[in-house]
Amino acid sequence: IKIYVPLDSAAVALGADEVAEAILSEAQKRDASVQLVRNGSRGMHWLEPLVEVEQEGKRIGFANVDEGDVSSLFEADFLTKADHQSCIGEVDEHPFLAKQERLTFARCGIIDPLDIDAYEEHGGLAGLKRAIELNREEIVGDVMLSGLRGRGGAGFPAGIKWKTVSEAEGDQKYIVCNADEGDSGTFADRMIMEGDPFCLIEGMAIAGLGVGATKGYIYLRSEYPVALKVLNQAIKIAQENNLLGDNVLGSNQAFDLEVFVGAGAYICGEETSLLDSLEGKRGQVRAKPPLPALEGLFGKPTLVHNVISLCSVPIILAKGGEYYADYGMGKSKGTLAFQLAGNIAQGGLVEKAFGLSLRTLIEDFGGGTRSGRPFRAVQIGGPLGAYLPEDLLDLPMDYETLAEHGAGVGHGGLVVFDDQVNLREQAHYAFEFCAEESCGKCTPCRVGAVRGTEVMDRIAKGEDWAQNMVLLDDLCELMVDGSLCAMGGMTPIPVMSAKKHFPDDFEPDQAVRA
Ligand code: NAI
Ligand code: SF4
Repeated sequence: IKIYVPLDSAAVALGADEVAEAILSEAQKRDASVQLVRNGSRGMHWLEPLVEVEQEGKRIGFANVDEGDVSSLFEADFLTKADHQSCIGEVDEHPFLAKQERLTFARCGIIDPLDIDAYEEHGGLAGLKRAIELNREEIVGDVMLSGLRGRGGAGFPAGIKWKTVSEAEGDQKYIVCNADEGDSGTFADRMIMEGDPFCLIEGMAIAGLGVGATKGYIYLRSEYPVALKVLNQAIKIAQENNLLGDNVLGSNQAFDLEVFVGAGAYICGEETSLLDSLEGKRGQVRAKPPLPALEGLFGKPTLVHNVISLCSVPIILAKGGEYYADYGMGKSKGTLAFQLAGNIAQGGLVEKAFGLSLRTLIEDFGGGTRSGRPFRAVQIGGPLGAYLPEDLLDLPMDYETLAEHGAGVGHGGLVVFDDQVNLREQAHYAFEFCAEESCGKCTPCRVGAVRGTEVMDRIAKGEDWAQNMVLLDDLCELMVDGSLCAMGGMTPIPVMSAKKHFPDDFEPDQAVRA
């Protein structure tokens, strides 16, 4: 009998390794023949560790399994019946999963991440095989047609970036995967690297063929040890199977890659700091131009993409750009991996086409707040994203609509707050965060963030309240206009959105009371 226990960090943090060990030792004790598979996570984090048992071709799930539950599960004969109290029935039928449109995460949580045959059986490698049949212009043309936009946060059209790198002159070109996922409340990059690493490897290999790059790097944050282990094992298997190397799947084209582990600075998620760090220097922002697409790693044309952008490529090449572009709305094509976090009953990953509302995500998928208290705010797109109130929950999630409301989809992370949150305190946190993580290269950010915390302190105490509120606006305007990169340029977004949508939290009496 086949039993699946996730190796994903979220499940492991909740005891999945102990559960896996307990299952093996219980099986041995009972002389039961068990094949244990360590899969990725399905993205239903509130149910982790989610153990699945394959019965007659169906996968039956058991939620929040504790190592202490294992013997009772065997006693309930969970190998053949699904009547244990923790049983959630057939996992694929669970409403949280059944309503999703999993294109990029199609295999995540389903297969053993290091089983290359299972990867291929579930649609893997079809994109790379098709890419090998196409010339560079055709590969780039498909990415262009798909309408894919950078999933790291900025949403720049991927096809244009690919074309720029493809057409750039250079004796050497690189593919750099930005896996320094630093936004609060986001975990999509980690989940797919741990649960379906071949998808990233395939996406990078296709990118290599598309732009004429022979070498790739995955810049991984040091806080992801499981992803590091899985990726390194997957790269080795990919090399042994000719997916990487001098002659990718017999195409006579070379592409190889390696993982580089960052040292834990938020700013190294900014692409030019990341490149400096990869070159062995201190991670500091470079002025653009030149764009990395023309002068990137070691001064060579470089395609820098977030993990999810690259993981979206295999399906685009496998099914064609039009197939992908059929999902989504307006200029926001395809799907986005929304990540539900914070005060939410059902936290996890929801892959859906652009265009669904925030309300659907938070209420239908997320089940409302975890505390059961009324919803008050949601922050979208990381620590430098906007706070939105209840009356904007019906906005469709797409790049343009959110931009009209001073917000951004970002990397798809949603952090939910109930009515106990104080948005002035959250705004203070944005400045604190910026002061801590600023690379220090430009004055509006380096000094502005520190001055921002001081202004917020005075507002909190009600000191010269009206003047400090004006000063806050001035400071934010200066940081937006004068910062060299998005770190300083976006810090005012949470502050200004909090001030606009939750003005009561900034009132002196409220501030003094808080
Ligand atoms: P950007 O708009 O400057 O650039 C986006 C991408 O497009 C870059 O790769 C850039 O090199 C490329 N690009 C721009 N013009 C181009 C052209 N003409 N030809 C070819 N390529 C071109 O944005 P930036 O500063 O790279 O990213 C800011 C975003 O990062 C924010 O919106 C934020 O949401 C996101 N972010 C994400 C984090 C995460 O953990 N995923 C953490 C922090 C920020
Ligand atoms: Fe560095 Fe901040 Fe300036 Fe960006 S905005 S270059 S992080 S000091």
